[in-house]
Amino acid sequence: MDKHLQLLEANRAWAKRMVEEDPEFFTRSLHVQRPEYLWIGCSDSRVPPELITQMKPGMIFNHRNIANQVIHTDMNLLSVLQYAVEVLGVNHVIVCGHYGCGGVKAAMTRHDYGLINKWLRHIKDVYRLHEAELEAIADEQMRLNRLIELNVIEQVQHVADTSIVQRAWKRRRAPHLHGWVYNLADGIITPLIDIPAGSHLDHPIYEFEDLQV
Ligand code: CO
Repeated sequence: MDKHLQLLEANRAWAKRMVEEDPEFFTRSLHVQRPEYLWIGCSDSRVPPELITQMKPGMIFNHRNIANQVIHTDMNLLSVLQYAVEVLGVNHVIVCGHYGCGGVKAAMTRHDYGLINKWLRHIKDVYRLHEAELEAIADEQMRLNRLIELNVIEQVQHVADTSIVQRAWKRRRAPHLHGWVYNLADGIITPLIDIPAGSHLDHPIYEFEDLQV
């Protein structure tokens, strides 16, 4: 059987099982989604948000890209963020990175990867911002792990730096922002940073003082 047909077969079995367990499961959420969480994660196949957090369809609004980047000119990310925060009204935005991230590892090298250089460039900027701390770590694996953590922390701050989030903080004291790192070796998520709604930002230059609410 072709590999992709396995997916369709598994899907039929899953849909059947869901209805057996809960006859209203699909009809209940047919016309509305009310996710509590926006998940900004890495595209890595080993870090599937719903599976590792035991969430069901309808609970997590998702955006995934290489190395869980939050780039302030990325229309895709910004559209997802605005919709999640302003229309769906999510109360928590989670940026989740993971140890062993190939994107961050590639960014730490000086290899030319072609087009993806443009994407990895943002992680190189994180490296430069934290150069002193990173270069004090002698062990290469430990240094990579720390860059993975610092990258998550930077990306959460980028979420806070948007007018989308700052306007929502003024309007409804939400969402709360969280930065997590997932360990491929044991399946455990460790929190790295929390930014409650209304917090001051990492630098005042990012705080809009005349937001129209
Ligand atoms: Co990754």
